[in-house]
Amino acid sequence: MAFRDIRGYIAALERHGEAVRIKEPVDWDLEASAMVRLACQLGSPAPILENIQDYPGWSLAGGLFSNYRRAAIAIGLDPDLHPSEILNLYHRRSKHPIKSIIVDQAPCQENVITGEDINLFELCAPYLHEGDGGRYLGSWQFVATPDYDTDWLNWGMCHLMVHNERTLGGLLLPQDDIGVMFYGKYLPHKKPMPWAAVIGAEPLTTVVSAAPYGRGKSEVDWAGGLRLEPVELVRCVTQPLYVPANAEIILEGVVDPEDLRLYEGPVGEYTGYRTSPRMPRVAFRVTAITFRDNPINCVACLGVPTDDADMMAAVLTRSDMLTMLEINGIPVVDLCIPPQMVSHAAIVSVRKPHSYVGNRVATLLFGTKNTGMNLQQLFVCDEDIDVFDIKQVLHAFATKCHPKRGITYYDNQPATPLLPHLSYEERLLGRTTKVVFDCTWPLDWSPMRDIPVRGNFWDMYPERTIEKICDRWQGWGYPQDMRKVWEEGKARASWK
Ligand SMILES: Cc1cc2nc3c(=O)[nH]c(=O)nc-3n(C[C@H](O)[C@H](O)[C@H](O)COP(=O)(O)O)c2cc1C
Repeated sequence: MAFRDIRGYIAALERHGEAVRIKEPVDWDLEASAMVRLACQLGSPAPILENIQDYPGWSLAGGLFSNYRRAAIAIGLDPDLHPSEILNLYHRRSKHPIKSIIVDQAPCQENVITGEDINLFELCAPYLHEGDGGRYLGSWQFVATPDYDTDWLNWGMCHLMVHNERTLGGLLLPQDDIGVMFYGKYLPHKKPMPWAAVIGAEPLTTVVSAAPYGRGKSEVDWAGGLRLEPVELVRCVTQPLYVPANAEIILEGVVDPEDLRLYEGPVGEYTGYRTSPRMPRVAFRVTAITFRDNPINCVACLGVPTDDADMMAAVLTRSDMLTMLEINGIPVVDLCIPPQMVSHAAIVSVRKPHSYVGNRVATLLFGTKNTGMNLQQLFVCDEDIDVFDIKQVLHAFATKCHPKRGITYYDNQPATPLLPHLSYEERLLGRTTKVVFDCTWPLDWSPMRDIPVRGNFWDMYPERTIEKICDRWQGWGYPQDMRKVWEEGKARASWK
């Protein structure tokens, strides 16, 4: 059964040893986020900070979706499953959206503040990294916006910095759906765009908002499909749009084309660096604040991997890429976006129906919306490589990728301004070069003459020898259950 709210999910994380409650006082000014950062870097349980200085009754929770185990728990699976199995279930459920339902009563409206009473400094916003431009109220949350002239409701995850008592500042990229809505429709018509920031919704509801789902497609229904239950929505108090009823905190407001710019940033980014300077960005004016009793502000303190941003790409962007390859008939075996590679690199294993299939994969993936924008390096492997086993991938790269004909560059590709390897000018222009590393044997190589035999336990010995050794391995005092490894390997498509 789906989690009703983030509280149910946190309790489940705690049961599986993936979250700890901390009741000692913690400062919102860098201390709380530094704890979240360290927990992410160590791979430790997510800290649930229940005693925040200056904010009695408020909690901060960080790193809630920062590894495969937490992704499995969010979707109701055994956290010990192989990542590929967890991700394939996300992918399968993504294909069956479920329509949302509207409710009248909503926990997220237990407390309502409007008009002159609005003061964002009364909400517990952490100072995330030393040197950030301000306190961020939104870091693991999404902004809901209605389309100007259709019934499409978009959700997009973004950072929101507290600028003053009634204004937040944020990056609104033209290639994101929210950017398409605002710059393409509201701005030319000189109309204010209603928005609502949703903080602390049930995990899958939040997670889908970070994916480039596509114009006109409902992330709300997608979340329902992943949950196997409809998302419950309630109408906002001051704006004409709907938000998840069981979220912790909702901020409502408008982006007004007549009153657009203010300085925002910098903030530590998903790349593990601070790349975006303080710049004029978009003003999100607030018209209402609503929240649950004892609200939990959910935080992502982005930095070096792995944290929530890396995992969301590993789960959702993977699904987006797989769909792209499937509908174009690519015989893809598996696909991994290693969280350590911050959504900039992907590893694909394919069967080879024709030469240079890797370049076709590259053209398809580099050409997709956000997926393509972020993706910089693509590794294409033969079907026998487990793309989730980085040791196998590195070996294939070093031994099978020809240093000249195995590498193809794609010049003059659009880029986001956040890529650390770009020069300052390239970031401003949004221009990059992408690359595909073909780590497969050429199709015309003969197995007898050209393809060398791999010196691997699984390749070099007869099956009866492998079976005998696997059966007796633990009996000889070794810790691994090699019989199980062997059985599982045989069951996996990527096994030799
Ligand atoms: C933790 C996190 C923070 C993010 N912050 C921002 C941000 O501040 N601005 C932005 O444009 N995109 C940000 N993104 C990326 C967007 O969520 C992503 O591009 C998404 O596809 C946008 O949704 P949309 O295309 O439906 O508008 C963030 C992603 C994550 C995971």
